[in-house]
Amino acid sequence: MKKQLTIGLFGFGCVGTGLYEVLNKTALLQAKIKHIVIKDATKKRSIDAAYFSNDADRILNDEEINVVVELISDSEAAYTIVKRALSSGKHVVSANKKLIAHHLEELVSLAKANNVSFLYEASVGGSIPIIRNLEEYYNNDSLSTINGIVNGTTNYILTKTGEGLSFDTALSTAQELGFAEADPTSDVDGFDAKYKLVLLLKHAFGYTANQADVWNYGIRQLKTWDATYAREKSLKIKLLAFGTRINDQIIGFVAPHFIPATHFAYNVENEFNAVVVEALFSDRQLFLGKGAGSYPTASAVLSDISALQFDYAYEYRKTNEEEQLHLTTDFKLKVYVSATSKEALETVPFAETLEVYHGATHHFIIGWIAFKDVLQKDWNNESDLFLAVLPDGVKLNTEEAILATNQEVVFA
Ligand SMILES: NC(=O)c1ccc[n+]([C@@H]2O[C@H](COP(=O)([O-])OP(=O)(O)OC[C@H]3O[C@@H](n4cnc5c(N)ncnc54)[C@H](OP(=O)(O)O)[C@@H]3O)[C@@H](O)[C@H]2O)c1
Repeated sequence: MKKQLTIGLFGFGCVGTGLYEVLNKTALLQAKIKHIVIKDATKKRSIDAAYFSNDADRILNDEEINVVVELISDSEAAYTIVKRALSSGKHVVSANKKLIAHHLEELVSLAKANNVSFLYEASVGGSIPIIRNLEEYYNNDSLSTINGIVNGTTNYILTKTGEGLSFDTALSTAQELGFAEADPTSDVDGFDAKYKLVLLLKHAFGYTANQADVWNYGIRQLKTWDATYAREKSLKIKLLAFGTRINDQIIGFVAPHFIPATHFAYNVENEFNAVVVEALFSDRQLFLGKGAGSYPTASAVLSDISALQFDYAYEYRKTNEEEQLHLTTDFKLKVYVSATSKEALETVPFAETLEVYHGATHHFIIGWIAFKDVLQKDWNNESDLFLAVLPDGVKLNTEEAILATNQEVVFA
């Protein structure tokens, strides 16, 4: 039976206002917002001021409120709010991937101990219903790979650098359009995509990664000649969050990839996200949709709220305590590394060199490198080096076979 949901909403920014509007347009849902907590009580709001305060207790101590929707921009404050809400027996819906990737086990245990649901569909892929599908649809199908564009900001920037803009110009354009924040570090250095990958690894393989152990390398160091190289080879550069399971080993990392025209992500442009799931029986399936924005993200929050009417909770059925899954570093990557200085390039310890280029403005090497050696450098802060993984560029150290990362999804 459907139950009445009384919502306490934290945050009335991009996603919070979107949620208010989509809830108003969803007549069949028995849910109403009772109170909204924001940070700045003096800010003018688009709806009745009586809804608002900056007093978290107005929601957390209100027994009538049975659902807390957390949509704030401060992940530290969100941690306190979500913990208090779960501890006081309220269901929680959140879009905060940073918070969840840092505290997943604790928050899941807290929800379980208090017999409430903790749902977070909007935290990965915006409008794309990937978590619920991994949880429910693929429940009995063994998943081998999850791979995708999960950050709309970097995908927008890469679309523009692919069209010939410099990274700095593309970033400023993204900031002017509201796609990128004033401090773009979390997006452009791949942290945001990494947090989402942590959640995907949990729901795809039942593996709880420590977010600090998952390598994230972004696109800040991309130069115009890297984009030109891609164009000349009919490739595009995309920031992919890649996760695969081989027996008890998990490979998971975020890095720029060169991809060919047959790759599922080739035509995924601007703020769109796309995730490919590979499973034993259903084979390869592509999820595509808007990865950010007010209404698309609010639609995923709405879906979680709606599921609460039927007491839905994630069951983490892929998690099997008896399996000793572990994140492996025992593999090689086939990469392109470019630099303006030959000396800088020579510091990269390739295991096998396949191609070397020395030009007037820059140099590059293509070759295989042990992942353990990749981890020796802080790539996001190596201002003269840019690295991108090449198609089918992952190989376990123990086997010669290359893992097919060039996931073709051909619709013709
Ligand atoms: N925007 C997207 O497309 C998108 C997509 C997926 C996930 N998300 C996630 O959704 C969440 C919200 O993002 P957003 O884009 O809506 O952010 P936003 O537009 O910056 O709005 C943030 C809201 O949080 C409030 N806030 C900040 N600190 C607070 C605190 N300590 N206590 C109470 N309220 C506080 C702000 O209050 P004031 O109004 O008073 O400033 C504002 O209403 C984030 O976790 C984000 O990562 C966003």
